[in-house]
Amino acid sequence: MIRYLQKADNCPLFLCPKVILFQNFSFAAMQVFNNIIETIGNTPLVRMNKIGKGELKGDILLKVEYFNPGNSIKDRIGINMVEEAEKNGQLKKGGTIIECTSGNTGMGLAIAAAVKGYKCIFTTTDKQSKEKIDILRALGAEVIVCPTNVDHHDHRNYHMVAERLAREIPNSFFVNQYENLENRNAHYKSTGPEIWKQTDGKITHYVTTIGTGGTVTGTAQFLKEMNPNIKVIGIDAYGSILKKYKETGEKDMREAYPYLIEGIGQDIVPGNFDFSVIDQVEQVSDKDAALMCRRLAREEGIFAGYSAGAVVQGILQLKNEFKEGDVVVVILHDHGSRYIAKVYNDDWMRDRGFLKDEPVNAKAITERKQIKELVYATTNETVAEAFQKMKELSLTQLPVVENNEPVGSITENMILHLLMENPYYRDSSVGKVMGKAFPVVELNATANEISKLISKANTAVMVKTNTGDWSIITEFDLIEAMA
Ligand SMILES: Cc1ncc(COP(=O)(O)O)c(C=O)c1O
Repeated sequence: MIRYLQKADNCPLFLCPKVILFQNFSFAAMQVFNNIIETIGNTPLVRMNKIGKGELKGDILLKVEYFNPGNSIKDRIGINMVEEAEKNGQLKKGGTIIECTSGNTGMGLAIAAAVKGYKCIFTTTDKQSKEKIDILRALGAEVIVCPTNVDHHDHRNYHMVAERLAREIPNSFFVNQYENLENRNAHYKSTGPEIWKQTDGKITHYVTTIGTGGTVTGTAQFLKEMNPNIKVIGIDAYGSILKKYKETGEKDMREAYPYLIEGIGQDIVPGNFDFSVIDQVEQVSDKDAALMCRRLAREEGIFAGYSAGAVVQGILQLKNEFKEGDVVVVILHDHGSRYIAKVYNDDWMRDRGFLKDEPVNAKAITERKQIKELVYATTNETVAEAFQKMKELSLTQLPVVENNEPVGSITENMILHLLMENPYYRDSSVGKVMGKAFPVVELNATANEISKLISKANTAVMVKTNTGDWSIITEFDLIEAMA
């Protein structure tokens, strides 16, 4: 609320009708929004300070849309599409809102529906994370999960299911954010005017990722009406047909292939696009966008979604486009919490080869290990018992640990030599036959330092983790981390 009121102070009345409400109050009046919908919009513009410093000219201003109540820019279109449908009679009292979504638009619609008393049914695909589906259900929506790997025209396809439900359920409204022009009109009415006001009309460049085309088109239509010289740049994903479509007018399906960035790019050209207000389209890769997302969080403290990484990566790729004095407004669509199991998860990043350039150290290697808990032998157990543990987990060596300190080691090779010498060694205690303990390294020891310690005679090193537990790094772990 404080956020809104501060901004409202210097907001022209025609852009900020909610201010009228406050102006009628005496100074001591309570400062209250009538419902959560009224808090949508008026998101802050935040200067980017560190990323691109020295190479990116101009004032780079990030419009942080996760300040909306549903944590994304799509709250703006949710309420607008609902209210326009009410006005034109598509949505009536007691009606049901239907959409195929699992993401941000669903949240925006569900918030509007909760406040206005509509029912929501969303269809989604089984590739969506359970958390996203749970969030929609938490807001009262019914969510129908459809199979991902079915043809576009298959009756089980999530779009087809939504269309069928809209036909079958009386008093229902199929939103269809791709073709519904109230998507882009929402940005014409709110995002565009807000940016114009917040930059005092000084904006020179408007940059956003492109998906349905609503954010780029509606905002650009408003801004270009105010100043036709504002340059509009859309950021697309490699694997999408939109860039080539902008440049050639051709819907070239050879450009389309699967990619990971969520919410951006297309293999169709949605009706919300008006390419005449978009000057340029740039594509970014999954890896670059993911790494930039993490930098935004760590360097700017802005915990935003995957497409925010894409848009910032995009402006860095286009750094020669900007000069001193430019005012570049960049849209960050949503919040990082939705990507905690993806771009903000090291295992997810490594599995896709996105962290390859990161220096590999003992900490990173131990965090990556499949078996997290240390498997070890004690001095009192027999060689046969120690060997059984190794066999069960396909290990070739075990550290010997007493009182949480490594005191020795036993390897497959040692056991073989002992048994060759005398089979009765199988009943000897480990303490009597063990070799010397594996060397201990610090968590920040580099792969290079570790590899110098690993040899035929010494097959592993030990490292104490931040929780005080011991972990082992074997030759195999080292190779896996570097491969
Ligand atoms: C996270 C995210 N970023 C970017 C976009 C693209 O915005 P638009 O659909 O308005 O083009 C979307 C749209 O779904 C999105 O969810």
